[in-house]
Amino acid sequence: MKNLAKETIHSLSELDGFTKSLVPILKPGTICLFYAEMGAGKTTFVKSFMSHLGVMDSSSPTYTLVNEYGSSPPVYHIDLYRLESEAAIDSLDLEYYFSQSQYLFFIEWAEKLIDIKFPHIAISITQQDSNRIIDVSLR
Ligand SMILES: Nc1ncnc2c1ncn2[C@@H]1O[C@H](COP(=O)(O)OP(=O)(O)OP(=O)(O)O)[C@@H](O)[C@H]1O
Ligand SMILES: [Mg+2]
Repeated sequence: MKNLAKETIHSLSELDGFTKSLVPILKPGTICLFYAEMGAGKTTFVKSFMSHLGVMDSSSPTYTLVNEYGSSPPVYHIDLYRLESEAAIDSLDLEYYFSQSQYLFFIEWAEKLIDIKFPHIAISITQQDSNRIIDVSLR
């Protein structure tokens, strides 16, 4: 494991500065797994990151499960929240998405994945009062 960044974010504008600093780190083929409680700010983080890639109208994949953006790099934003069993997660076929290695991946609710064998960047968001502590590490 390698720590890449840790920051306490006090506002949405601070978040934009932080996600901007990560643009060079998040490359095609990178899989970012989010670990956070409900409403901690996973989707907001991805939306902020997407804005730096020129996508100003990204949205939550909570109901669509997978959102795709033709940005550079292209992005798959996936939300596992509504997948209630291991079989349901299997049926999403993440391997199919990961095989498209020109894409950058953001996956919300990575807690639902068991036995993660692929290299990834773990992004944990912890809420503390109105602040968010964001921890980024290479695993
Ligand atoms: N860094 C931040 N600073 C201020 N407000 C934030 C921040 N991140 C998220 N929020 C606010 O918190 C709320 C929930 O954010 P968001 O939907 O991104 O959370 P989530 O972790 O994706 O939720 P879910 O668990 O439902 O997927 C939103 O109203 C959002 O504006
Ligand atoms: Mg979300």
